[in-house]
Amino acid sequence: MDVTIRVHDLCRDYVVRSMFSNKTKRVVKALNGINFEVKKGEIFGILGPNGAGKTTTIKILATLLLPTSGTAKVFGYDVEKHPIEIRKRINLVMGGERNLYQRLTALENMEYFAELYNVPLNIRKKRIYDLLGLAGLQKERWSDKVETYSKGMKQRLQIARGLINDPDCLFLDEPTIGLDPIGARELKNIVKTLTRMGKTIIFTTHYMQEADELCDRVAILNKGTIVTIGTPTELKKTYTEKFQIDLTLTFITHDHLEHLQNLKHVNYVRVNELEKKTHLFIDTQACSEAVESVFNVLHGIPIQDVSIKKSTLEDVYVKLLGGEH
Ligand SMILES: Nc1ncnc2c1ncn2[C@@H]1O[C@H](COP(=O)(O)OP(=O)(O)O)[C@@H](O)[C@H]1O
Ligand SMILES: [Mg+2]
Repeated sequence: MDVTIRVHDLCRDYVVRSMFSNKTKRVVKALNGINFEVKKGEIFGILGPNGAGKTTTIKILATLLLPTSGTAKVFGYDVEKHPIEIRKRINLVMGGERNLYQRLTALENMEYFAELYNVPLNIRKKRIYDLLGLAGLQKERWSDKVETYSKGMKQRLQIARGLINDPDCLFLDEPTIGLDPIGARELKNIVKTLTRMGKTIIFTTHYMQEADELCDRVAILNKGTIVTIGTPTELKKTYTEKFQIDLTLTFITHDHLEHLQNLKHVNYVRVNELEKKTHLFIDTQACSEAVESVFNVLHGIPIQDVSIKKSTLEDVYVKLLGGEH
C-alpha cells in the first residue's frame, strides 16, 4: 500500500493574546491528537463544522503551520524536518479569492506562479494552456484581468494555479464555497479528472452531499478530534443504514395497515392522506426483504408510485454531531 500522508497524534494549539494586555494569554486547542492516513490516488475528505480544525490540518500538511506535537508526514517526509521536499510535490487551493492577483490576467497570473515554481521555460506555455483548459476557463477570457471574473471563473483559475507545479498531492480547502450548483458540479468533475491522472486529493467541506459523491474516504472532525473515519458507504452502514420506501396508493384498509406495521423487517409506517391519495412512508433496515413482504401484503391494491430513499452521509453527520449544534 502506497501511503501519501501519515498523521500521528497530531496536536496544534494557538496562543491568543488579549487585545489589552500581552500577559493575558489563552490557548485554543485546534487539534487534539488526530490520526489518519491517506493512500496514493485517494480523494480524502475532511468534514466538520466551522472551527473543527479542518484548515489547521490542511495547513500543517501543506507545511504552512507547524504542529504543536505529534507528527505529520507527506510522501514519507516529516513536515517539520523536510518542508522543502514536500512543497515541491504538493499545492494548496483555498476557497475564496486569495492567492490571485486581481489586476493581472489569467495568463499573467499563471506565468507568475510558473516562474515562482521554476517550471522549465520550454514546457511553461504548454502547461499553462493545458491547465487553463483542464480547469475549464473560457479561452476568450484568458487575457482579461481577474478582477472582471465571476466567482466560478476565479475558482477555476485557482485550480489551474494549484496545478502549475504538477503536484502529486493537492490540498483543497473548501473549494466549492460560494459556488453555484453548476460551478460546484464542474469542480467535482475536475477533481475526478485529477485522480484519474493519479493525483492524491485532500479536501475539506461542510457540504455532505459533495463528500458523499466524491470521496473515497472521509474523516469527520469535531473540536479537533476525529469522530469517525471510513468510506461513505461504511459510515452509512455503521451509523444509519436505513431505507424509506415511499408508496402512493389509491386507498388502504385498516387491516392492511396493521399487517404492514407488524411485518418483520418494517420499523414503522407513517401514513399521509393527501389529495384523495394515500401516501405510505415505510422505514426499514433491510430494504429488499421489506419490499418483498410489503408488496405481498398490498397484493390487489393499485400502487401509483414507488420510490426508495437511502440514508445519506448527512444523516451520519447529523447523528454524530447533531445534538451539539
Ligand atoms: N490563527 C489563529 N489564532 C487563534 N485561533 C485560531 C487561529 N486559527 C484557527 N484558530 C482556532 O482554531 C480552531 C480550528 O480552526 P480551523 O482549523 O480554522 O477550523 P475549520 O477550518 O474547521 O473551520 C477554531 O477554534 C479557531 O477559532
Ligand atoms: Mg476552514
